[in-house]
Amino acid sequence: MFLVLHALGWSYDIAAEALEAPLDAAQRDAVEALVRARIETRRPAAYLTGRMWFAGLEFAVDERVLVPRSPLAELIAARFEPWRGARPVARLLDIGTGSGCIAIACAHFFPEANVEASDISADALAVAATNVARHRMAGRVTLHEADLYPPAAAPYDIIVSNPPYVPRAVWRALPPEYQAEPGLGLVAGDDGMSCLEGILAGAPAALAPGGLLVVEVGEIWAEVAARYPQLPFTWLEFAHGGEGVFLLTREDLVAGV
Ligand SMILES: C[S@@+](CC[C@H](N)C(=O)[O-])C[C@H]1O[C@@H](n2cnc3c(N)ncnc32)[C@H](O)[C@@H]1O
Repeated sequence: MFLVLHALGWSYDIAAEALEAPLDAAQRDAVEALVRARIETRRPAAYLTGRMWFAGLEFAVDERVLVPRSPLAELIAARFEPWRGARPVARLLDIGTGSGCIAIACAHFFPEANVEASDISADALAVAATNVARHRMAGRVTLHEADLYPPAAAPYDIIVSNPPYVPRAVWRALPPEYQAEPGLGLVAGDDGMSCLEGILAGAPAALAPGGLLVVEVGEIWAEVAARYPQLPFTWLEFAHGGEGVFLLTREDLVAGV
């Protein structure tokens, strides 16, 4: 449906009755070419169309960034409730921003806050900059080329991250759609934890008192829980699917890291 509507240049929220309309030959050719490209190249649909939605917002995407799909969208749209409580949020950090989807969604749902976003990939940051401009967030979202934490920008009320967390051997066996994505966005060493280790180590110094660390670790969540038995992870549940997202407070981290 995504590909068909894109090929026709039709809106994605088109009325169901309009889909009954007959197509002319040029329209059929356009649909067939795009569907054929999807089947033959195995490139994700979002790379073929150059667009993807996250937390209800549209983002430009290409092969320099992961296709946005994190369950964190649901949590951001809920302004991190019920976990945030009445705590005001003035500063957020998104580590490994890729397309900028998490950082920009945070700025959208926290209009009172400033957002810093880091990525180690200059290519990814170029896409993020396009999206920051498209959403007119230049004054609210600051991009940093950095290894995990940007220099001297703490403390943050919330740090959120969807870092790479796929073990190298698992990544090698993934279908071609995943191989089309940047390896830097998926692979994190032999056990999937190389970025997570740095995020956990840096978080106590980067978080304000009472601040929250929210990180997606996907399928390796059980290994993460076993690696850090001293940390009281809260594993979040999502109405729209997804797993392996934990939440810790700064105080949890200080006691456990
Ligand atoms: C799983 S992707 C997430 C992208 C985006 N936040 C999203 O949710 O769609 C992880 C991102 O982390 C970046 N990354 C990998 N290692 C990093 C590091 N050491 N420091 C900062 N960013 C890193 C990758 O370039 C990639 O853009």
